[in-house]
Amino acid sequence: MKLRPASIDDAQLLFDWRNEPLTRAMSVNTEPVAWDDHVKWLSTRLARPEPGLYICEDDGIPCGMVRIDNDEISYTVDTGFRGKGLATKMLILARHQFGSKRAKVKRSNEASAKAATKAGHTVEYI
Ligand SMILES: CC(C)(COP(=O)(O)OP(=O)(O)OC[C@H]1O[C@@H](n2cnc3c(N)ncnc32)[C@H](O)[C@@H]1OP(=O)(O)O)[C@@H](O)C(=O)NCCC(=O)NCCS
Repeated sequence: MKLRPASIDDAQLLFDWRNEPLTRAMSVNTEPVAWDDHVKWLSTRLARPEPGLYICEDDGIPCGMVRIDNDEISYTVDTGFRGKGLATKMLILARHQFGSKRAKVKRSNEASAKAATKAGHTVEYI
């Protein structure tokens, strides 16, 4: 498994993950994101010196994403890969690469809190 920097070619993948129902429910902003807004956001993000946006690949198959914003980490696992320990592994990889971060987690998001804690990040409940 590896984390690789996201590119504009990942726009559709990131869009689908962002608008997936559980990801929306667990996000601060639960509204669906429009395609044009998404592409604008991604282009701006990728133009930064450090975009902090990574696609997790397992045997070359994209299975999740990690976003780093200073000391904060956010993440999603593709629906087809959930419940198999993937988030935990992905977040351990992220800690090795970027250090221990803070995950802002809704109280109802038990899987996220467990994965982040097990991987050595700090959970801040929101
Ligand atoms: C949260 C999320 C990343 C977890 O991914 P995952 O790969 O399924 O997580 P893991 O398989 O590593 O499981 C982590 C822990 O949560 C537990 N778990 C998994 N699914 C669960 C569920 N639906 N309810 C409660 N616990 C659950 C696992 O048993 C594991 O605990 P354990 O280590 O004690 O066995 C994934 O559900 C997701 O993408 N959710 C939508 C986006 C999101 O919530 N992102 C985080 C925002 S803070």
